[in-house]
Amino acid sequence: MRKGYFITIEGIDGSGKSTQAKLLHQYLQEQGYRALLTREPGGTDLAEEIRRVILTPGKEELDPMAEILLYAASRAQHVNGLIRPALESGAIVISERFIHSSLAYQGYGLGRDLDLILEINRLAIGDLRPDLTFLLDATPETSGERVRSRSQVNGNGYDRIEMRGLSFQERVRAGFLRLAEEDRRILVIKTAGKSIEAVFEELKEIVNRSLNNFK
Ligand code: TYD
Repeated sequence: MRKGYFITIEGIDGSGKSTQAKLLHQYLQEQGYRALLTREPGGTDLAEEIRRVILTPGKEELDPMAEILLYAASRAQHVNGLIRPALESGAIVISERFIHSSLAYQGYGLGRDLDLILEINRLAIGDLRPDLTFLLDATPETSGERVRSRSQVNGNGYDRIEMRGLSFQERVRAGFLRLAEEDRRILVIKTAGKSIEAVFEELKEIVNRSLNNFK
């Protein structure tokens, strides 16, 4: 391989990203690839600290601009500390969420300027972009069910972003779909009514095709 390959998995909260990311990671390792699984916000110790600051609900509202900058700060830490070195060593990197989450959540969800978010991210991580992005598309109602049951199981309630409710999630979902319309590197997989295995079959087929072209 000339250099690594960067895959990101996006979607609204509860869309099943983690499950698919784990399955893909395992599959690629079984195929003999060196694959690294990571997530945002987070991925390194310091970036995970920033994650905690962003997501833990507190008395004080998180300022939207501070939010954009904190996600970008955690991304800079993540990219420079983990993702870029892994790609340079030829690994396949799978990240649950990346820059498209900032565009969908802070851009379309919170109504902040997309160009500004792109510019801030360019300062944070330069021109690194995923080679392939999956958008797992589900309705906020279906995903909300998963988030609700998960937060009950965890017993720690909703995080700050999940507390923003259904109409916020609807804006984020529409934003993701819009981003996918404008960028052919983003592939949409509809998850409604499909089993985990069926979704993974679709995802796997696309990854196999992309890696064949890439080699
Ligand atoms: P995540 O851990 O993926 O949550 P979930 O498993 O519930 O999908 O992400 C945590 C939250 O961070 C999620 O609500 C989306 C939000 N987020 C942003 O708003 N902007 C960003 O740039 C990123 C990376 C995440």
